Amino acid sequence: MKRKPSRYLLGSLLVGALVLSACGSDDDTDGGGSDSASSPADTTEPATASDETGDGGTITVYTGRHYGIEPVFEQFTADTGIEVRFTTGNDPELRERLITEGANTPADVIMTADAANIELSADAGVLASVDSDILTETIPEDLRSDANDWFSLSQRARVIIASTERAENPPTTYADVGAPEWQGKLCLRPSTHPYTQSLVASLILAEGQERATEIVQSWVDNDPLYIDSDTDIYTAVADGECDVAIANTYYLGRLLTENPDFPVEIVWPEQDGRGAHVNVSTAAVTANAPNPQGALALIEWLATDGQQQFADANFEYPADLNVQPNEIVAGFGEFTADLDAVRQLGANQPTAVEVLSATSYQ
Ligand SMILES: [Fe+2]
Repeated sequence: MKRKPSRYLLGSLLVGALVLSACGSDDDTDGGGSDSASSPADTTEPATASDETGDGGTITVYTGRHYGIEPVFEQFTADTGIEVRFTTGNDPELRERLITEGANTPADVIMTADAANIELSADAGVLASVDSDILTETIPEDLRSDANDWFSLSQRARVIIASTERAENPPTTYADVGAPEWQGKLCLRPSTHPYTQSLVASLILAEGQERATEIVQSWVDNDPLYIDSDTDIYTAVADGECDVAIANTYYLGRLLTENPDFPVEIVWPEQDGRGAHVNVSTAAVTANAPNPQGALALIEWLATDGQQQFADANFEYPADLNVQPNEIVAGFGEFTADLDAVRQLGANQPTAVEVLSATSYQ
C-alpha cells in the first residue's frame, strides 16, 4: 500500500495523576497463565534479529498488547529498516510510566489492548495528535479518536459463548445471560478486568445506567463462577463447569487451532439491535516521542501492509474493514458489531465500575 507523507501535530503535555481502578492488557499469556497482574518488563528488548541493524533508525514501543507481537515488529523492520525495541506491561502501568518519564521517555509508541485505557492515556496528555491521510482513510472514524491521537488496529469482539453439548437455546442478548435458566451455569470474568468494565460501559451506553444495572444484577443473581482468564472460561464451558459465558472470540480461534472439535460455540449477541460489543487493540504516537516519524511509520504500517498479520496473529478482526479476517475467524460467521460505542467506552468506565460495585459483581 502506498504511503503518503504525514504532518505532525504534537500535543502539549498535560501530566496528571490518575487513580487506576483496574489493570488493562492482554490477559492470557501464550503459556496459558494470566498476565493481568504482571509488571512492565524491566528491560527493553530488541524485536529484531541482531544482524538487522536497520538503516531507518530505532523506535521504542510500550505495549499492553502482547499476543504475537514480535514477528509483526520483525516484519516491519524488514519492510522499513526501522528497528523496534519494545517493553511489555499492562496498559495502566505503561501509561503511568509514560507520565512519570515525561519529556525523558524513550517511548515513541504506546499500544493498548483496550479502548478505555488508550482514552485514559489521551486524557493524561501523553499522546500526540497526528495528521495522517493513511490512518484517516484506512481506520473507520468509529475506531479512532476525534483528536486523531489514537487509532484502533484490530477489533476484539466480546460475545456470548455456549456449550455445543448442553446449551440448546443459548442467550442472544447480554440481558438474556441473566435469565433464570442459566442460574448456576454461568461463567464471567471478574469486575476488575477491563474487558468486563468496557462491556458494562457499552451496556450503559446502549441501555442507560438504570437498565444496565438491572442487567448486571441479573448476571450476579445467577451465581456466576468468576474466572480471571478467558482461556480458562472457554475450558470451563467445555468441561461442564458452566454452560454459557461471556468471552472474547479470539481465544476460540486459538483453541480451535489446537482442537477443531472444541465443544464451544460463539453466539453473536444483539444482532437485532446495536450489535456485539467490540473492544479494540490500539496504538498512538507518544507526546514526547524521540522519533515521532518512526512512530507514525509503524502505526501506518500496522494499519496497512501489516494489518493482516497484526490481526491474524491473535485471531482478531482487522480495524480496516476492507481486510478480511483469517479463515478460522471467518468461520465464526458474519456479525454486526457495536462500533458506535468504541470511542465512548473510556468516558463510561467510571460509571461501569460503579454499576459493578452496586450489583456486588465480584
Ligand atoms: Fe485477551
